[in-house]
Amino acid sequence: MPLITFEGADGSGKTTHMELLAAELERQGHSVLLTREPGGTRLGNDIRQMVLWNTELEISPMAEMLLMAAARAQHVSEVLKPGLLAGRLILCDRYIDASLVYQGIALGLGLELVASINDKIVGGLWPDVTVLLDVAPEEAFARSITERQQADRIESRGLAYYAQVCSGYRLLAQKWPERIRIVDASRPIDVVQRDILAVVNSIL
Ligand code: TYD
Repeated sequence: MPLITFEGADGSGKTTHMELLAAELERQGHSVLLTREPGGTRLGNDIRQMVLWNTELEISPMAEMLLMAAARAQHVSEVLKPGLLAGRLILCDRYIDASLVYQGIALGLGLELVASINDKIVGGLWPDVTVLLDVAPEEAFARSITERQQADRIESRGLAYYAQVCSGYRLLAQKWPERIRIVDASRPIDVVQRDILAVVNSIL
């Protein structure tokens, strides 16, 4: 069964769409494993809490990238690889591309460095397909700040950072057009969900 990842700026609607998709795929008879990064394991959730919410802690860009990578390494060995071996269809909210974009491009560490470290960490486990929920940065920014009372460390970086994230994802989609499928997420939920289902069904 495939590993399907979901990417997009904060506020692009990933969570809503992943839940709808998981319910539909379960209805079709698949055993779906819904998971996320950073997170999905105890270590990953501790790292998530530390990096996103302990905003008093000083974390350099390199350290941030390596903490995301540590969470990913644990997630791959504890959840993703065993899940795939057990024949589950995995839907993962963010994965390698998030590090390439958020740390490699938007924090300026460079794509090559982040890609080479992450390639080793996942042991070649790149996604079979990646759904990129594409929205304008202004829209993502507005949605993500109205959706919650408090912004986390990354959401607090402001609109300019969101703009780099959105254009970074488009750059990756150009680099890997076979794997990364762009879905225009500015449209109504049912229309977006229909397109996501079409992408997923095309590889099942
Ligand atoms: P997400 O789970 O989408 O946040 P939310 O709870 O708001 O839906 O993502 C968490 C944040 O972590 C998001 O701002 C992107 C960031 N992130 C990175 O910067 N690098 C990474 O490698 C990953 C996996 C996430």
